[in-house]
Amino acid sequence: MPPPRTPVPPESLGLARIEPRHVAALRAAAGDEAVLDDPERLEPYARDETEALRFPPDVVVRPASVEQVEAVLRLAHAERLPVVPRGGGTGLSGGALPVCGGIVLALERLDRIRVIDERDLVAEVEVGVTTAALQDAVEARGLFYPPDPSSRESCQLGGNLAEDAAGPRSLRYGTTRRWVLGVEAVLADGRRIRAGGRNRKDATGYALAQLLVGSEGTLAVLTAATLALIARPAATLTLVLPFGRLEDAAAAVERILSAGYDVAACELMEEAALAAVARVETLPPPLVGSAAMLLIELHGRDPEALLEDAAGVESVAHDAGSGDAMVADDAAGQQRLWRVRRKIGEAVKGISPYKEADTVVPRSRLAELVRAARRAAERQGLTAICYGHAGDGNLHVNLLRGELPDELWRARRDAAEEELFREVLSLGGRITGEHGVGWVQRRFLPLALGPAELELSLALKRAFDPRGILNPGKIFPDPGAEGSR
Ligand code: LAC
Ligand code: ZN
Repeated sequence: MPPPRTPVPPESLGLARIEPRHVAALRAAAGDEAVLDDPERLEPYARDETEALRFPPDVVVRPASVEQVEAVLRLAHAERLPVVPRGGGTGLSGGALPVCGGIVLALERLDRIRVIDERDLVAEVEVGVTTAALQDAVEARGLFYPPDPSSRESCQLGGNLAEDAAGPRSLRYGTTRRWVLGVEAVLADGRRIRAGGRNRKDATGYALAQLLVGSEGTLAVLTAATLALIARPAATLTLVLPFGRLEDAAAAVERILSAGYDVAACELMEEAALAAVARVETLPPPLVGSAAMLLIELHGRDPEALLEDAAGVESVAHDAGSGDAMVADDAAGQQRLWRVRRKIGEAVKGISPYKEADTVVPRSRLAELVRAARRAAERQGLTAICYGHAGDGNLHVNLLRGELPDELWRARRDAAEEELFREVLSLGGRITGEHGVGWVQRRFLPLALGPAELELSLALKRAFDPRGILNPGKIFPDPGAEGSR
């Protein structure tokens, strides 16, 4: 494989290139076995789950302690070296890719669940713990950590925090940020901070912990977090509602959600999204044969009561154009349905190279969003596949390359995406709901933020990271990087 050119030369951002003496200093700071610079061992750190992008770092450091993270940052700050924090590498906006080269700071060895406290209902976890590992550990004690990104088996909490990751259940429970009571982080110059704590309320100064959540590795390196837990829901039920038209399913969402039921998740999947999964595995019968489906999860205390609620939801959906519902109230049946839903992203990727637009609009504009996605794709002769968190107004619109040659694909993709985001913004939406701006969405940031908000965001970046070493080239549409994709 030819080495890709580094799309952003570090010098263009006032940063230095890694030299052998830096690698030696990193070995002294973090221990020999923590430092990888053999090209073969760098390769897994050159990618995340975003499209087919590949940007190898010069060196990877895998610290085993927070002290080592501090030492690495002290060195990087003194020498102006790019540092890209990385978790499970499942991101979808290129956030963990070293677009300037430099150091990938892989936090996978900080993988201890420090505390699960059943009295305060909190967990203190290091950032390298996978989301599923935390969920399994707390569920074994009858507790619950709700955020559920589709990549929960392999994503790490540090990445969830950095991107403010969400997932189906954020409809009922909120995104990662809502669960963060406090964080431990290392600043760009190597100083450790603790922001927030274990308290359910905290009006003490600025909410620094909440600011760091969603800051995409550009403000500080998170090392641990104190997360709120709740009791595990006693009963859950999943319901599939089939629709003859995608727009009808989209329009039904607001009616279902204002009918007073305790809906934990409300997902939309169009037929083409399900067909992508059907290429690799057999779909359960409820998911076959309709133009679009809503997948709804109800949470409650009493299984009988949930069955009654399901009948209520079905009747509201019926009035909004749905066919007959299929209900799964046993654990295995529910898991089968959710497994298919979680596989869609990966399955779409298997069809063809693609570009995803992580659109989000106020829920009442969902049907208009679906129409806008269709229109923008069709105008460029592209296919769009829509699925996602309809209850949150958050749809992943996937534009497929198909057989188009490279140049044509880039031109059409860029035009379709720009048209779509302009439409999304005019509907009151935003340019990403849960995947972050990262590398691939940054050209749209000035469409979404006014000049004063952009300036303020840059001032925050400078206050936290005056030398610009943390995740350089991300979020902001840096002129040095324009035209580089
Ligand atoms: C999902 C990921 C792509 O919703 O966000 O499956
Ligand atoms: Zn999603």
